[in-house]
Amino acid sequence: MGFDKKYYTDAENELNGIRMKNQRTLAARERETDEKFPEVGKIRRSLAGTTSKLLRIIADRDNDIKAQLEALERENLQLQDRLKETLVRCGLPANYLDPIYDCAKCRDTGIVDGKLCECFREKVKKAAAAELSASSPLQLCGFDEFDLTYYDDNEVLPLGATARKIMAKNLSICRSYAENFRLPYNGMVLRGKTGLGKTHLSLSIAKAVTDKGYSVIYGSAPDLFRRIEKEHFGNSGDDTDTLGLLTSTDLLVLDDLGAEFESKFYVSAFYNIINDRMNRSLPTIVSTNLDLPETEKRYGERVSSRLSTMDMLIFVGSDVRFLKKRRQL
Ligand SMILES: Nc1ncnc2c1ncn2[C@@H]1O[C@H](COP(=O)(O)OP(=O)(O)OP(=O)(O)O)[C@@H](O)[C@H]1O
Ligand SMILES: [Mg+2]
Ligand SMILES: [Zn+2]
Repeated sequence: MGFDKKYYTDAENELNGIRMKNQRTLAARERETDEKFPEVGKIRRSLAGTTSKLLRIIADRDNDIKAQLEALERENLQLQDRLKETLVRCGLPANYLDPIYDCAKCRDTGIVDGKLCECFREKVKKAAAAELSASSPLQLCGFDEFDLTYYDDNEVLPLGATARKIMAKNLSICRSYAENFRLPYNGMVLRGKTGLGKTHLSLSIAKAVTDKGYSVIYGSAPDLFRRIEKEHFGNSGDDTDTLGLLTSTDLLVLDDLGAEFESKFYVSAFYNIINDRMNRSLPTIVSTNLDLPETEKRYGERVSSRLSTMDMLIFVGSDVRFLKKRRQL
């Protein structure tokens, strides 16, 4: 899938930072062992010496290069073994002075077998997802800020429930959804009237899952669909592939479904997103004001049958925006 070039640059920079960090750690370990264990320092310097010997052998064309290289290789391996033994004797791990890599597969080069390493793709994906979600107030909402006293606990609903009990259950489902997040994972539909906390809880999930290191895109349906439409008709001004991002991010939180204005293009975009993500077993959280019949009428049976396989949370109560304002008076 295509990404804007700037995300590759972001990922390169991140990789550079990782290499520098690991080199600094290794240099510090070398200084530390040289100081505390002179024997280790001696072996290490002999090892470094084999590199310059190698260059000398290659430059000296008259001798039997092959035999010399083999001898040097033996010497090098023996030194490495001795270094490891000595480190262990000094109470350190045998690999204490080996090069350090965050990604063992590509050794932090970003490339393995001539292809981009998975770790590099992840970095590009995260950089792109972070930018798409940048406009959302991710910092403002958390589970701990979700106040259940806004929901009535007196009026008894069918089956002996109250609004507060139902919302307490929703809160705990969302909280454990975020805590247990893994891939593959189920999706959720948060349904209910305006001002009941759907955006608040879906942002809380997005934030917690981002903190766990997954790539998360949070966006409102009107905004994301508009971007896709612009890119589709080629007048977005850059070459970001929003549809590709939405279908491949670890978690997509699509807020306010139904608030976009009605168009066949949006319906088919939504179908493609949901269908693609389900095929990849990637979870989506959708929040909407629409009830079930409205959803089916607007997006058709193919969409609503896919949504019906996701867990559904019904939000109840009175508009918290209004209650909050009243509390402040
Ligand atoms: N239980 C709650 N505790 C504290 N603040 C809340 C709670 N529920 C909602 N809010 C706040 O009230 C405002 C409206 O909530 P939110 O945006 O989550 O509603 P919504 O269900 O997404 O509404 P809409 O359908 O209009 O998008 C937000 O500022 C939100 O932080
Ligand atoms: Mg909302
Ligand atoms: Zn890698």
